[in-house]
Amino acid sequence: MEKTIFIRHASQLVTLQGSSDAPRVKDGMSELGIIEDGSIWIENGLIQAVGTDSELLERYEGRLNEAEVVDASGKVVTPGLVDPHTHLVFAGSRENEFNMRLQGATYMEIMNAGGGIHATTRATKAATSEQLFQESYQRLNQFLKHGVTTVEAKSGYGMDWETERKQLEVAKALHEKHAVDVVSTFMGAHAVPKEYKENPDEFVRIVMEEMIPKVAELGLAEFNDVFCEHGVFTPEQSKKILEAGKQYGLTPKIHADEIEPYEGAELAAEVGAISADHLLRASEEGMKAMAEVGVVGVLLPGTAYFLMAESANGRKMIDLGVPVALSTDCNPGSSPTVSLPFIMNLGCLKMGMTPAEVITAATLNAAHAINRAGEIGSLEVGKKGDVTIFNVGNYMKLQYSYGVNHTDTVVKNGQVVVKGGQLVEELSFS
Ligand code: NIG
Ligand code: FE
Repeated sequence: MEKTIFIRHASQLVTLQGSSDAPRVKDGMSELGIIEDGSIWIENGLIQAVGTDSELLERYEGRLNEAEVVDASGKVVTPGLVDPHTHLVFAGSRENEFNMRLQGATYMEIMNAGGGIHATTRATKAATSEQLFQESYQRLNQFLKHGVTTVEAKSGYGMDWETERKQLEVAKALHEKHAVDVVSTFMGAHAVPKEYKENPDEFVRIVMEEMIPKVAELGLAEFNDVFCEHGVFTPEQSKKILEAGKQYGLTPKIHADEIEPYEGAELAAEVGAISADHLLRASEEGMKAMAEVGVVGVLLPGTAYFLMAESANGRKMIDLGVPVALSTDCNPGSSPTVSLPFIMNLGCLKMGMTPAEVITAATLNAAHAINRAGEIGSLEVGKKGDVTIFNVGNYMKLQYSYGVNHTDTVVKNGQVVVKGGQLVEELSFS
């Protein structure tokens, strides 16, 4: 029997109420719908009422004894954070490459020499499903402790069908067993395996004709992503792969213009991608094309930080009308972090976004980037009871006071899963 939860007296209840039909753009990204002394009533896993504490008290006075009361006085309450771009399911780690990069090697040099994505692919191939599940489960625990209640997860450390399938099945099992919701993306085209170095088009054919149909048939993913990058997949190859996915009902996403300008943003608009991600080197034309058709720009300033590169121009994208979302890009090579709040701080300091904009980017716009805005991303009646309570008095302080995990309480589907910053012990999430 699910408990009823009554969250009371938030100093700021950041609702983002208003239309969830389209991602927020321009000034809309600053409209947080803040209610002071705000409260929420959650029943059967869903939000039933949102308002000031006195409004909700009047309505539920006769039922107070049914509810677990969570006192949020002096705290900020937001929708559960949404991370729309992770490589959650992988084995191993690559601190040796971090050390090499600090001594001057580049990310692409390491990858072209057989490390990078290839190194994680070897480790992921060698791991059993159970090992992958356990490692990724621990990562999800950490996400939850940082206030994140939904993550997208990509395959792509297989590049053969067996391992891609293993990763996607682990993601599905995690979705079923862990409190955090996991939304799957197929990313068979994450790198060109070395056996196909001389004939990458043959690998593209395998992804299109052999892997994508099986992913669709088994219902293992909703999205189809490709690393469109100089030296990896060309815009032409990327387009073919994304169009092939569309034939099988997989919505396109794209790793675009991460290392070099490559017209990835333009391609995202052309194929009707739900999001284009990275965009460090996106052209102005590409940004405008994205704004025109409403492609969400998923920005990953943690990756730029970790690769010691200049961040995407988030400010310019917002000013041009691109709906911007933020994400960790959690992966062992270019962004080994689960801290979306830290990414939000980088959004302010490295991309010229305001504290209000980064909240929208990590909630409602992030939900749009994974086609979940109908059920998460704002605190509104009928949406899931996914709520994060931060131990700060106002939302600006969340980004201002950085490098600290301010997450105090997390409610997922109407159940308290993090309390006082710690996972609720009795939950095994299974
Ligand atoms: O988003 N760019 C490609 N994929 C990941 C990195 C994956 C890795 O290095 O393992 C990214 O940066
Ligand atoms: Fe990525």
